[in-house]
Amino acid sequence: MEVREVGVVGLGTMGAGIAEVFARGGLSVTAVEADRDALARGMSILGSSLGRAVSRGKLTEDEHAQILGRVRPGSAMTSLSGADLVIEVVPEQLAVKRQVLAELDQVLRPTAIVATNTSSLSVTTIAAGSAYPGRLVGMHFFNPAPVMRLVEVVSTVLTEPAAGQAVTALARRLGKTPVQVTDRAGFVANALLLPYLNHAVRLLETGYATRDDIDLAVTAGIGLPMGPLALLDLIGLDTSLAVLQVLQREFGGTRYTPAPLLRRLADAGRTGRKSGSGFYDYPAQSPPAAGSPAGQRAEPPPPGTVTLIDPATAGARTGAAERAGPHSERAAELASLVAVAGISVTRNPVHPTDLVIVAVGPQGGVLGPATAAGRAADAVGLHVAAPGLAEIVPTPLTSARALAHAGALVARLGLPAVRSADRPGLLAGALLYPHLRDAVAMIGDGYATASDVDTVMTLGCGYPRGPVRMLAEAGVERAAEVLAAMHAGYGDPAFAPPPLLIEYVRGGLSPLAHGAR
Ligand SMILES: NC(=O)c1ccc[n+]([C@@H]2O[C@H](COP(=O)([O-])OP(=O)(O)OC[C@H]3O[C@@H](n4cnc5c(N)ncnc54)[C@H](O)[C@@H]3O)[C@@H](O)[C@H]2O)c1
Repeated sequence: MEVREVGVVGLGTMGAGIAEVFARGGLSVTAVEADRDALARGMSILGSSLGRAVSRGKLTEDEHAQILGRVRPGSAMTSLSGADLVIEVVPEQLAVKRQVLAELDQVLRPTAIVATNTSSLSVTTIAAGSAYPGRLVGMHFFNPAPVMRLVEVVSTVLTEPAAGQAVTALARRLGKTPVQVTDRAGFVANALLLPYLNHAVRLLETGYATRDDIDLAVTAGIGLPMGPLALLDLIGLDTSLAVLQVLQREFGGTRYTPAPLLRRLADAGRTGRKSGSGFYDYPAQSPPAAGSPAGQRAEPPPPGTVTLIDPATAGARTGAAERAGPHSERAAELASLVAVAGISVTRNPVHPTDLVIVAVGPQGGVLGPATAAGRAADAVGLHVAAPGLAEIVPTPLTSARALAHAGALVARLGLPAVRSADRPGLLAGALLYPHLRDAVAMIGDGYATASDVDTVMTLGCGYPRGPVRMLAEAGVERAAEVLAAMHAGYGDPAFAPPPLLIEYVRGGLSPLAHGAR
């Protein structure tokens, strides 16, 4: 069946974007909201988004007028009676969705298709509450809908094949890439994304790292387009909380237990961009204020000489032997980076330098080597995470002076810098490796293929490369080691390397052999 007239119920963060996608695709759209004010607000979100496209030169004034002319604000559900397809984009609460579906059952033709944009609720459960479960299909767009190419299409055991096919064809016609997924909480993208975002909130609320450092660790250290806290603001903290609660009920475990800070901010109405504040403030709907990474803060001049301690060799040697023996690869790279910046490096721990650098690995562990060298107050860990991030790792004994010297040193190296707690994974790794772990576990469970996982995260979440490719680049051994250290350090099974990752390591296998993008 060809879809020409569509309805959008709920014109909030996602609904306004979905209405824009439909109208840009030449469909005639009727938008329905809870009340007049919400409808006016939704239409203005849509208008501003199209206005931005005009000012960026992506649309002409004429096209803008034509697209806007295809969207009709509807006064009530009855205005949807002629629609071929209606998508509900109301809040992520089963009772609200069921109420909307019951109203749609009263007004739509029996042949009309009903799509749900739910992120995490069971499409089967939603369908079972409708008088026409066969016409209900999950059509999960991603935020921002006009930009993200992915649509997860969810057909249930109750869905009539023609309805699923019509939704898939429509997604293609709109220039999107439909991926069929099974009706499991969070489908593919949110089941991977939300626990990672939740973990970032937990790192913030436990004082592990600052908001700006968490977001910078992800953009500069992992290479993702947006930090997790800025992304939570974009998605909406209330929506994220609702999705996590569903995931928690379905899968259990600490990864899905909403961080108390997330719940508190959502309860306080600080729901992110849509309310004007979340983790960041959005005074005039502007992008988050740029962070102030440690390396860019005003710092004293860098030290002329630093002492370098290599935890990989310290302890195995003593005194002169330690000074003469070869460095590990990591310490040698750090030594040459520092030397290139014009700062001399000594390996003699008793040499009176202002700063001692422990060339720490992603597993952390600064305090032991710093204390063994008798220089705990002067020491910080330093780790350079690809593609270009310095992680400065103070210990509880590091002096403010040493920390200031470390900041100045890293500024001289020209690297963006973050400060991390001295815990397994440091900052970038503590966010990245459990995220990759969840992806491997999902593949190991047979729920999605490696290629689906990478397609979904690149097209749905804007990742430059998917988690499976990231895992291959980081190395399965490194991932398994950091995860094992996190598991041992926290005792949380959510960090344990999953069986498939262990198989990759033992068999010397590449995760890409499973067919990722
Ligand atoms: N925010 C995201 O990034 C995102 C991404 C993909 C999917 N989703 C899903 O999309 C759905 C909507 O999420 P959102 O973030 O856009 O929420 P939102 O709170 O921004 O918008 C929901 C809109 O629905 C309206 N509404 C509430 N009850 C209504 C009713 N009875 N009739 C008509 N309109 C009603 C509200 O006034 C509001 O404007 C959820 O199921 C969510 O899981 C969200």
